[in-house]
Amino acid sequence: MEMSARTIVAGNWKMHTEAGTANALLDALVAWSAANPGHVSMVVAPPFPFLGMAVEKAGSAGSVIIAAQNCHQEEQGAFTGEVGVPMLRSIGVQACIVGHSERRQYYGEHDAIIARKIKMLLKHGLQPIYCCGENREERESGRFREVVADQIRKALGGLVPAEIAKLVVAYEPVWAIGTGLTATPEQAAEMHAFIRAELCQLAGGVAKEVPVLYGGSCKPENATGIFRGDEVNGGLIGGAALVADTFLELVRIAGAVKQH
Ligand code: 13P
Repeated sequence: MEMSARTIVAGNWKMHTEAGTANALLDALVAWSAANPGHVSMVVAPPFPFLGMAVEKAGSAGSVIIAAQNCHQEEQGAFTGEVGVPMLRSIGVQACIVGHSERRQYYGEHDAIIARKIKMLLKHGLQPIYCCGENREERESGRFREVVADQIRKALGGLVPAEIAKLVVAYEPVWAIGTGLTATPEQAAEMHAFIRAELCQLAGGVAKEVPVLYGGSCKPENATGIFRGDEVNGGLIGGAALVADTFLELVRIAGAVKQH
């Protein structure tokens, strides 16, 4: 199943929460979403142990999409500690983050592996949320456009247009993740337009409908300006997704900005 709205606010909980806090956070998000049906898709990516509970809770409201934070590129096998896409599908997970910079940086994930994960997700009908973005040195040296273009071509170049049409892409400048630094609205708008053009080169007109989310210290204080970018279709939120009120404020802001 795909996200119904093109404006998306997604929460990546990373390795945070325990059963009690995850439970409370999910309850608050599902209750709000049930009471406020709107044109923003809310996506929540809790840690693996809480995915089953999250799907169950979201199922009752039907409006929150549950995503995993990672998956393995093989269907199944002797890969101790890993989680396969068919497992995720079998419990009702609908989407999965792939290529997050923390996975690239700490677990050596590169675009060839990411490309295989995306294929596996598409094979099983899960929506990949593909992350790209440059690090601080690449931003400062001015190479950031080439870096992001290279990531996109390596990870997505083997897909046909109909597959690219099923993706969500997140632009997450690494220098802005968890640092409190954030891209300015102009920097975000420029990179989102650049990413849109790259996607259109690969897939033609269908890429115009692919949601491109911004991620990196996105908070209610800076979201309005960032979300105003023409090619910014919402956010992928880390730290600010761990507090229900803050995350819901970001959903409201995205709804208000994108309504016009
Ligand atoms: P922060 O919002 O904590 O900077 O994290 C962004 C992110 O990495 C989302 O995937």
